[in-house]
Amino acid sequence: MCGIVAYTGPNPAIPVLLNGLKRLEYRGYDSAGIAVEGADGISIRKSEGKVSELVGLLGEDEASLKSSTCGIAHTRWATHGPPTTVNAHPHAGGKNGIVLVHNGIIENHRALRTTLEGKGYVFVSETDTEVLAHLVDSLYAGDLLEAVTTALKEVHGTYGIACLSDQEPGVLLVARRGSPIVIGVGADETIVASDASAIIKHTRQAIYLDDNDIAKITGKEIDIRSLNNMPVSRKPAEIDWSADAAEKGGYEHYMLKEIFEQPEAIRNTLRGRMDPERGTALLSGLDLTPRELADLYRLLIVGCGTSMNAGLVGEYAMEDFAGVLAEVEQAAEFRYRNPIVGSRDLVIAISQSGETADTLAAVREAMDKGALVAGLVNVVGSTIARETGRGVYLHAGPEISVASTKAFTSQVSVLLMTALKFARSRRMSVEQGRQFVREIESIPSLVEQVLAKNDEIAKIAEKYVEQTSAFFIGRGYMYPVALEGALKLKEISYIHAEGYHAAELKHGPIALLEASVPVIALCNDGPGKDKTLGNVAECRARDSRVLGIVTEGDEEAMAAVDDYISVPACPLHIAVVPSTVALQLLSYHIARLRGCPIDQPRNLAKSVTVE
Ligand code: AGP
Repeated sequence: MCGIVAYTGPNPAIPVLLNGLKRLEYRGYDSAGIAVEGADGISIRKSEGKVSELVGLLGEDEASLKSSTCGIAHTRWATHGPPTTVNAHPHAGGKNGIVLVHNGIIENHRALRTTLEGKGYVFVSETDTEVLAHLVDSLYAGDLLEAVTTALKEVHGTYGIACLSDQEPGVLLVARRGSPIVIGVGADETIVASDASAIIKHTRQAIYLDDNDIAKITGKEIDIRSLNNMPVSRKPAEIDWSADAAEKGGYEHYMLKEIFEQPEAIRNTLRGRMDPERGTALLSGLDLTPRELADLYRLLIVGCGTSMNAGLVGEYAMEDFAGVLAEVEQAAEFRYRNPIVGSRDLVIAISQSGETADTLAAVREAMDKGALVAGLVNVVGSTIARETGRGVYLHAGPEISVASTKAFTSQVSVLLMTALKFARSRRMSVEQGRQFVREIESIPSLVEQVLAKNDEIAKIAEKYVEQTSAFFIGRGYMYPVALEGALKLKEISYIHAEGYHAAELKHGPIALLEASVPVIALCNDGPGKDKTLGNVAECRARDSRVLGIVTEGDEEAMAAVDDYISVPACPLHIAVVPSTVALQLLSYHIARLRGCPIDQPRNLAKSVTVE
């Protein structure tokens, strides 16, 4: 949520900062700002709206700024105060020329504000960040590191910050607690960001700060300390994806690019992890000791949004194939409802970003209660990956589009592998295991067959573009697909959409059906299809137009709906993936036809790092 970039080195800072902001715009895009050091102190420029507005602001008359070699920048997703220019970051504090950008929330900002106002500080914005800027200023006595360290000890909440003082030119202070900060180590320069995608153009060497780390950066000198002023050693890690992976690559939107990347992303997820001979999956991050395995009572899966929907597929597969009790839970609810969890539970936290605040809090809660905890994460080095210490990386490559696509299908692929691995360690035969391996390995080509229908799906989308409300229904493995289909449609097209179990429709939502409310029904051939076709008939009897996801060649299902998208025949636990891809394309084309800002839907941010 929000994006931070900072630069210090021998080169002009502004191009690096603006390029970084564009890379991070998917994290927040309601306003943006930049602060750079110059001969006359620190200059700040801010604007409402996207980074392009800020670029427009830095006109020709800003030549003096353009030679600056040290600066900080921010793209905002509003929490405290509306997305106005005055609330945009950077924020300045007091008389010592303190300027900072901040991700996260300072929870005790009201009390601090009252104290600072009592000392004569005048606030111009409604943000919690301005409190931190004034607080640092109030503590400044000639040493920025000391002032920031003391200030951070006084704040409650979360932060990732980058800070400058016009008293100490060329010095950049960065720190984190609960909000990521990555330091890119260049040959003679340092680029800091809240996300590696903003530094990859400059260097692949990255230092990931841990909570309560604070770093003083002067050119290429990086001095990392704890808040207790003890030196901390953090070794750089290699970023293993290319700069091209974070580009649009000729596609109109990141979302479309990422939809089309899915066969390759899933192949990367599966690579080296399938054992066709033994009929099992090799996921060393989920290896349990024989004792842990024998004691295992339950698998608990926690996540939010799309990651939680993927978790539901994992719950079904784990019970279905491995005979292990499994439950999926919304991560925020898990944290706050005092769950019964202990050492016989394996908790798998699913998160594309590895930074989602609620999922991270659930991880900590599960660890405190003595559970075995593993992460299923895409972003290498992210907080959840590091704190869980064990788990499985998705290897799906960077996901830039706010609407998650390839992360979901990679997550489902890993969860199917997890079910296979546990099933083989319990009651599944080697022959059944080999069959399961073949099914999982077929997923990329099944997805390719759906992608080949892109034009056909775009045509079907034209019929659904005018609607303001829609229902998605499914049963069994297709129920999570209905939830995910509805989430995709609502977040990028702004059409109100709800995912329901097909049987649940009759318990209330059916009252809303009429000619203007279409139903998208997962009618794939397999257990439950007949019942779903019965539900389809009920919808059509209420004048709803029904678009079915059907199995290729299934004439009965095709005849039962108004429109259909067919997906290749495969078992239902596998059909989750190609069926979801069909719905991703449907949502994409509906949103495109409606002229929506697909990669940056209103009010959303890619990584939700506040609760
Ligand atoms: C889905 O398209 C959304 N972007 C959102 O629901 C997302 O899946 C959720 O915020 C969880 O994010 P995470 O996987 O990074 O933890």
